[in-house]
Amino acid sequence: MNAMAMTDKPALPQLPLERDLFGRVIFDHFQGRPGDYYLRRDDNFLERDTSARYFRSWEEMPSHQRCLLNHARGRVLDIGAGAGQHACVLQERGLAVTAIDASPLAIEVCRARGLHDARVMEAQEMDFPAQSFDTVLMMNNNLGIGGSPGGLRGLLLHLHELVAPGGVILTDKRECECTAVNPTHARYQRWNVERGWYPGSQRLRVEYDGHCGEEFDWLMITLHDLRDLCKETGWRIARCVQVNAGDAMYAIGMERE
Ligand SMILES: C[S@@+](CC[C@H](N)C(=O)[O-])C[C@H]1O[C@@H](n2cnc3c(N)ncnc32)[C@H](O)[C@@H]1O
Repeated sequence: MNAMAMTDKPALPQLPLERDLFGRVIFDHFQGRPGDYYLRRDDNFLERDTSARYFRSWEEMPSHQRCLLNHARGRVLDIGAGAGQHACVLQERGLAVTAIDASPLAIEVCRARGLHDARVMEAQEMDFPAQSFDTVLMMNNNLGIGGSPGGLRGLLLHLHELVAPGGVILTDKRECECTAVNPTHARYQRWNVERGWYPGSQRLRVEYDGHCGEEFDWLMITLHDLRDLCKETGWRIARCVQVNAGDAMYAIGMERE
């Protein structure tokens, strides 16, 4: 493909649909069948990932994640907890942890690994009393769960209600601007603008074991735009450290104003 406008959605390979396919990646790993899975973007760009990334021990975790976990205190909400690798660490330290995930199989694994409070719950439908938490974890790029700038804005507003004064959101994110130097990603970002989407939006689906999951939207928001969203929603980026120049990965601590 050249730099032409990409107005039509490319055809994706037809595979049988399995709704909780990412959950099965996690579940299979937990059952002793670790493996690779793929994320296919709706321009057909394919990225391989491995289930092992969600089962790291404390020693195996990237140092920026260990550093973020060391800032957790009080009542913790882990949003999009996956296999619960971060939630388990904090529960072992004696913190009260609630893990939520949209995937029933991921939550089954969280419970089997000993998490006392693991719930199947969409981030967009969180149902907790006001000021229930002191720390929110959104690890491994999980601000992306917002799906769009408007979606993330709604999520941050809701978290402002759910988190007590002085509470924090601990997260890490890859900066999407750096991906624009890659021609494939640059073309995708231009396509997003053409179709009226945020440049850093991604429509993705999981592929694994001959199946595909449902498409979902994942937001790669720029730091600049995240700062603006924080201002609008009562959050402040108190710490932001670039941890990996090549990948432009940032560890971020946001404080509730
Ligand atoms: C990139 S994984 C990160 C898992 C975990 N935080 C970790 O670092 O190991 C994203 C997780 O978010 C969950 N997720 C995606 N969209 C969600 C939503 N709308 N509400 C709750 N969980 C969601 C997925 O099922 C998946 O387990």
